[in-house]
Amino acid sequence: MRIIKAKDYDAASKACANLIFAQVVTKPDSVLGLATGSTPIGTYEHLVRLYEAGDLDFSQVHSVNLDEYKGLDGDNDQSYRYFMNEHLFSKVNINKEWTNVPNGLEPDADKACSDYEAIIASLGGIDLQLLGLGPNGHIGFNEPCDEFVKLTHCVDLTESTIEANSRFFSSKDEVPTKAYTMGIKTIMDAKKIVLIATGRNKAETVKKAFFGPITPNVPASILQLHPDCTVVLDADAASLI
Ligand code: GLP
Repeated sequence: MRIIKAKDYDAASKACANLIFAQVVTKPDSVLGLATGSTPIGTYEHLVRLYEAGDLDFSQVHSVNLDEYKGLDGDNDQSYRYFMNEHLFSKVNINKEWTNVPNGLEPDADKACSDYEAIIASLGGIDLQLLGLGPNGHIGFNEPCDEFVKLTHCVDLTESTIEANSRFFSSKDEVPTKAYTMGIKTIMDAKKIVLIATGRNKAETVKKAFFGPITPNVPASILQLHPDCTVVLDADAASLI
């Protein structure tokens, strides 16, 4: 595992965007695994700038997002599909038909999850997976639990995640309680992983996840076993390591 300590949020975002840039330049038809949350917004801004400068071409890229709220339509402004359209897909030359997010409107959870695994397999797997870090150590929506769940599955969000994500909704009651998420094996099968975590509120989790024992109680800790994982931090998130 490599750790990049950047001085602040902008420098961390730039470093993270540069890793994705390098991936697409060296393999223009990359399959990018993408993430939502507030942390990667700066990364997407830098990618858009690289595209606008004519330095980055997404025309051959396919993407698969980590997760989606169950029950939300892609047109709902709190859905992760909407987030991706807003922050990246509508601003670069990616083929929208080649962008994939779990289908939040599929009521049959088994079908939604197996369909998503089939999409990832049909693309030949993920070349680079971008991750954020939940305050409780979750990746995607793999919440702390007693065992790692391997494949895309439906999760009951924990109270703390509902609380943390309620800042994006008008009230906590509106936060969906379930989500579809790639599983730990789905994520670990990516050839490269880049995780970005910034801010003082992530420092304790960063220490536990990357310097503590590997345990499903801190899902991100599994990344210690990945052969090509880069963790990008700002000074605040790196302050306890
Ligand atoms: C959500 C997403 C995660 C993300 C996490 C952290 O729960 N499912 O993929 O990493 O939020 O979000 P933030 O970056 O806003 O702290």
